Amino acid sequence: MSKVRIGIVGLGRLGKVHARNLAENIQGCELTAACSLVPEELEFAKNELGVLNTFSDYEEMTKSDVIDAVFIVSPSGFHCQQVDTAMKNGKHVFTEKPLGLVVDEIKETQEVITKHPDQVFMLGFMRRYDESYQYAKAMIDNGEIGEITLIRCYGIDPSEGMESFVEFAMNNDSGGLFLDMAIHDIDLVRWMTGQEVDKVWAIGKNAAYPQLDQAGELETGAAMMRLEDKTMALLVAGRNAAHGYHVETEVMGTKGMLRVAQVPDKNLVTVMNEHGTVRPCSQNFPERFREAFVREAQEFVSCINDKRQPEVNAYDGLQSTRIALACQESFDTDSLIEVGKD
Ligand SMILES: NC(=O)c1ccc[n+]([C@@H]2O[C@H](COP(=O)([O-])OP(=O)(O)OC[C@H]3O[C@@H](n4cnc5c(N)ncnc54)[C@H](O)[C@@H]3O)[C@@H](O)[C@H]2O)c1
Repeated sequence: MSKVRIGIVGLGRLGKVHARNLAENIQGCELTAACSLVPEELEFAKNELGVLNTFSDYEEMTKSDVIDAVFIVSPSGFHCQQVDTAMKNGKHVFTEKPLGLVVDEIKETQEVITKHPDQVFMLGFMRRYDESYQYAKAMIDNGEIGEITLIRCYGIDPSEGMESFVEFAMNNDSGGLFLDMAIHDIDLVRWMTGQEVDKVWAIGKNAAYPQLDQAGELETGAAMMRLEDKTMALLVAGRNAAHGYHVETEVMGTKGMLRVAQVPDKNLVTVMNEHGTVRPCSQNFPERFREAFVREAQEFVSCINDKRQPEVNAYDGLQSTRIALACQESFDTDSLIEVGKD
C-alpha cells in the first residue's frame, strides 16, 4: 500500500510535535510538505525532518499534488477556513482543536465536510487516544462504575508559561480560557457520558496576574454544568499550576469512582531527598500526552487507508465550542446559560 502523503500547516509549539511524529513515528505516512509564514519554521521542516516541499501559501499547498492530506496546527481562528479549503481541494483533513471559535462558521464547515464523505475528517481531541482515558472509558461503558452522577476535571497549565501568556494575552485573543483550555474537558464530559450539556454557570479569578483582567483573560476559571439527564460536571481550567501540567479527571458513579491522573506523575520515580518524598510532575502537554499524539495521528492515517471516518467528528467540534462559548458568556454576564444543540 502506498504511503499517505501529508502536508502540515503551522509549526509552532504543537506543530513541531505533530510534524516530528508524522515524519518519524507514524506508520504508513510520510510528511511531504509544510506550510508556515515563518521562514525559520520551514527551514526546521526541511533540515530536521527532511520535508521536500515547503509553502508560505496554504491554498497552494492544498492544491498541490504532493499531498493527500493536511494536518492543521495553525492558530484556532484559521481552522474553519483551512478545513474548507483543504476539503474543497480533495484532501483528507486533521485539524487541531477547537474546530472553530464561532458557531456559525463551524456549521458552514460542517456542511463542507458532509459534502465530502469520501475524505477523512478528524478533530484533535487527543485525550481520547490516551491509554488511561481509554481504559476509564471502557470501564464506564461496561457499567463497572454504574450510572455516572458527577464528573470533576482539572486542566491547568504550568506557571512557567504564565509570564509569556500574560504578554501574549495583552495583544492577542486566545479564544479565552474555556475555549482554549477547558474544551478538552468539555469533550471528555460529552465522550464519557454520551450526554449533551444543558446548562452552565462559570466563574473565575485572576489572583497572581491581576493585569489579565484588562486583557479579558482568566488565570483560573471554573464551570458547573448540568447535563440532559441531570449528571453534574465540575470543570476547573487554569494557567498557573506551580508544580507542573495538572490534568486530572474523576468520575463518580453509583457503583464506584475512578480517577485518571490523580497526581500528574512524570513517571514511576519517587525521589527521597531534603525536600521530603517527591514524585516528579509532568511539565507540559507534549510530555504528558506524547503517546496520545502518536496514537491520534496513527488513527488518522489508518482511517485514510481503511476508508473509514474516525470517532471524533465535526459535530463534536460544534458542540464543544458551543459549550465553551456558553461558559465564557456565563462568566462575562454573571448568569446561568442554557446551551443549545441541533
Ligand atoms: N491538543 C492540545 O493539547 C493542544 C495543545 C496546544 C495547542 N493546541 C492547538 O494547536 C493550535 C496551534 O497552537 P500552538 O500552541 O502550536 O500555536 P503557535 O502559536 O505556537 O503556532 C502557530 C503556528 O501557525 C503558524 N501560522 C500562523 N498563521 C498562519 C497562516 N495563516 N498560515 C500558515 N501558518 C500560520 C505560525 O507560524 C506557527 O507556526 C491551536 O489551535 C491550539 O488550540 C492544541
